[in-house]
Amino acid sequence: MLGNFTYSNPTRLYFGKEALNGLRSELAKYGENVLLVYGGGSIKKNGIYEQVIPVLTKCGKNIIEDAGVMPNPTVEKLYGGCNLAKDGKVDFILAVGGGSVCDYAKAVSVSAYCEEDPWEKYYIRMEDVSCKIIPVGCVLTMVGTGSEMNGGAVITNHGQKLKIGHVFGDNVFPKFAILNPEYTFTLPKYQMIAGIYDTFNHITEQYFSGDDDNTSDYIAEGLMRSLIHSSRIAEQNPSDYEARSNIMWTATWALNTLIAQGKSTDWMVHMLGQAVAAYTDATHGMTLAAVSLPYYRHIMPHGIGKFRRFAENVWDVDADGKSDLQIASEGLARMESWMKELGLVMNIGELGATEEMLDGIADATFIMKGGYKALTRDEILDILKASM
Ligand code: NZQ
Ligand code: ZN
Repeated sequence: MLGNFTYSNPTRLYFGKEALNGLRSELAKYGENVLLVYGGGSIKKNGIYEQVIPVLTKCGKNIIEDAGVMPNPTVEKLYGGCNLAKDGKVDFILAVGGGSVCDYAKAVSVSAYCEEDPWEKYYIRMEDVSCKIIPVGCVLTMVGTGSEMNGGAVITNHGQKLKIGHVFGDNVFPKFAILNPEYTFTLPKYQMIAGIYDTFNHITEQYFSGDDDNTSDYIAEGLMRSLIHSSRIAEQNPSDYEARSNIMWTATWALNTLIAQGKSTDWMVHMLGQAVAAYTDATHGMTLAAVSLPYYRHIMPHGIGKFRRFAENVWDVDADGKSDLQIASEGLARMESWMKELGLVMNIGELGATEEMLDGIADATFIMKGGYKALTRDEILDILKASM
């Protein structure tokens, strides 16, 4: 049964080649001190910085730059950003980058005026925000996380060997997001395909759970089919605008809370992937790809009907004369071929994980309920071993 819920998503989207035209009217709504957050310099190389600065200047903004947000942003960087935001009396945070930059901006927005250690409050104790929130807007340059239209903010604490996401409420969602598919053309292919798999996995994390006759599952199947189709075109020709724009739009809808309605989810591939990243600092989408097949093959018997549906509706497996198990397995085999076709990393060893790390990675994996089976630590270890 779909159950009861309240649905709202406050992020205004500007999509397409002219999307940046929406920035000026959005910025006009906020005060003059803007924290401009970006990563390691890609926006300076590809010209996006040169396009954003004049808009800020024309709007009369006082720009405080916070550069160098690393992939998998760290808690130390977060503390530094909070000081910048507070000292600069920042009225608005503009994130120009990928999920890391956007997540970091949201983390600063709820942490700058937090009276305790934000890592302890939001990431260890998982508490709600109880302080002033600085509004955030986003110009997206890397596709996959959905951070542009959700409340997620993932932070890594290397000292504690933990990578944790807090999903904040819609008062923390970006106020707007500028989505120009052309801004993603300069992404290295490795990042493009990592983002494609991140998107795909966001959908499967929500799809493989709570099997009522839920509209979310039909939407999820459509999103997966579109993504598989467009990813094959983009892999061959990364500058195909139509494919890249479909991928961008799919990524946003994969994780903007829509297809989560009425679903119970455990996000276990992400829990495993984040633990791998806490030890290796590897690219997010690749950590998911590397653990996915051992995980899905492990839980398949517990959700066999849905894995059969996945095989038939997403991968067009012909069910005639076959058992559920054969059909479901064929679906995962097709998914594996597609992953290899894209060039995804298929094992955690290639991402820097070693046998000696596996116990620690298992300890860093949060065990969640809501999927087909609550895993035990031994099962986590088996999945990690199979992912080597
Ligand atoms: O730092 P720069 O120089 O900008 O380079 C980045 C970075 O090296 C580069 N890049 C981005 N746009 C580019 C570009 N290079 C050339 N041209 C462009 N247009 O790409 C690299 C990766 O960027 P990053 O932002 O780290 O990637 P992604 O968007 O995958 O974000 C990953 C982070 O988001 C978190 C992940 O855990 C990870 O920390 N996630 C956030 C979620 C959320 N908010 O809901 C959910 C996801 O599951 C995920 O956990
Ligand atoms: Zn993800």
